[in-house]
This record gives sequence, C-alpha cells and structure tokens, in this order.
Amino acid sequence: MRILFVGDVVGKTGRLAVRRRLPVLRKQLEADLVIVNGENAAGGAGLTPDTADEIFAAGADVITMGNHTWDQKELLPYLDRNPRIIRPLNLPPGLPGRGWVTVETPAGRAAVLNLLGRVFLNISPDDPFRAADEAVARIRERTPVIVVDFHAEATSEKQALGWYLDGRVTAVIGTHTHVQTADGRVLPGGTGYVTDAGMTGARDSVIGFDRETIIRRFLTQRPVRFELAGGDAVLSAVLLHCDPATGRCLDLRAFTEVVSDPAD
Ligand code: FE2
Repeated sequence: MRILFVGDVVGKTGRLAVRRRLPVLRKQLEADLVIVNGENAAGGAGLTPDTADEIFAAGADVITMGNHTWDQKELLPYLDRNPRIIRPLNLPPGLPGRGWVTVETPAGRAAVLNLLGRVFLNISPDDPFRAADEAVARIRERTPVIVVDFHAEATSEKQALGWYLDGRVTAVIGTHTHVQTADGRVLPGGTGYVTDAGMTGARDSVIGFDRETIIRRFLTQRPVRFELAGGDAVLSAVLLHCDPATGRCLDLRAFTEVVSDPAD
C-alpha cells in the first residue's frame, strides 16, 4: 500500500498548491491513500467546510487537524457530519468530531489517528502516549495499517512517541512546525517516522506567513497581526510504502517540491 501524507496546508497559497499538484501527485505516485493536514488551511488558522471540500476535491481521503481545530466555528457541526476530517483524539471528552478514522483503500483497509503534543503548545491536552495505547489497541482489531499524525512542537516529544509506538503502527508523522526535517526513516520495529512533514504554503515566508510582519513582531515585541504570504509555494509531503497484511512500513521518503506561483 502506498500512502501520501501532505504537510500542513497554510492559507490560500497552500490550498492553490494542493489544487494544482495533488491530483498529479496522487496519480504519479499511485497513492492508495492520501492524508492532508488542514489545520491552517483557512486563512492560516483552522479549516472551514469550504476549504475542507476544496482539499477533498483535489484528492485527499482524510484531513487531519491540530491545535487550531476550533478556530473556525463553521467547522464544528461539519466535524460530526464528515468522519473523514479528524481532530486530535486526546482532547477533553464531549467535543465534536473524532480522533481516528478507518478508510477502505484499493490496497486494503487503513486507519489514520490524530494526536496532539503537550510540550510548548498553549493548550493542555490529555497524555498523547496513553491515548495512543488505547486507540492503537482498538484500531488494530480492525486494521494493522495505522498512520499517526502527531501534531506537536517539540522534536523530543515527537521522537519519543515514534519510539513508543514502534512496531505497533505503520508510521508516526510529525506536523505543526512547518519545517520538514531530514530524519525520515523506518524504525527497527517497522514503523516509519519523520519528525515533521513540513508545510504546503508560501515559500518565501516565515512558516507560511508574511515575513515582514513576522520580523516586525520580533523586533517590536508587539502583537502585530499575522498576514499570509503569497508568491511561489512549496508542497512538502511524505510518501510511504507498507505491507497491508502486517502494517509494517517498508520505506518512507519525505520530499518537498516548489510550485511556481499557484495564484497565477
Ligand atoms: Fe499547528
């Protein structure tokens, strides 16, 4: 089974890059399952039903979220109506949406699980390690192919979860920092791992946002409003191959491609 995971789509530039490139990539890479992190897709913070539909129409099977899940209010009722959009599992009970989903792909059944880190994020979710234990045990009754999107800031927390789940899931893919890391590999137990998949958004930016605005924020220490950047884009993603019978990851490769101004 071939699984393509696209890193955090940031704002309109990110969505346009997805619209232009994802249909081609899906076909070229013969992906059986496409997962896209969409938690920054609407105006840089959160996801709306329209932006979700745009990403699905471009070829995503599942959209994952993160710390910005609740930023766009229209998404809340949509989360319960559309099980293919998942939000971090380890949030307080009773909130809309689900933390994992199973999908029937041409190569067999697969599951996607979304978890949120606890280090250096101004939100206090439940323990992602213990949440993963419980969820993975339940999901494995239905399929051994489990891709985890671990939306977290600290590299150490992401590496720790990768090792903790090694041999129990197909892959642990980090998201949230928007900078792709060069540590993609398959761990000894058969779990694919990368600390961060990177982002899909404006290339000449600071994590997808207008660089002048961000620099001014650092220089003045005042809450300057974030503005999205435009121009050329990057699409950052991870392609992995796994054995659908065992869930074992056979190969994992992170890559980034430049998409010349997708607004043109
Ligand atoms: Fe995030």
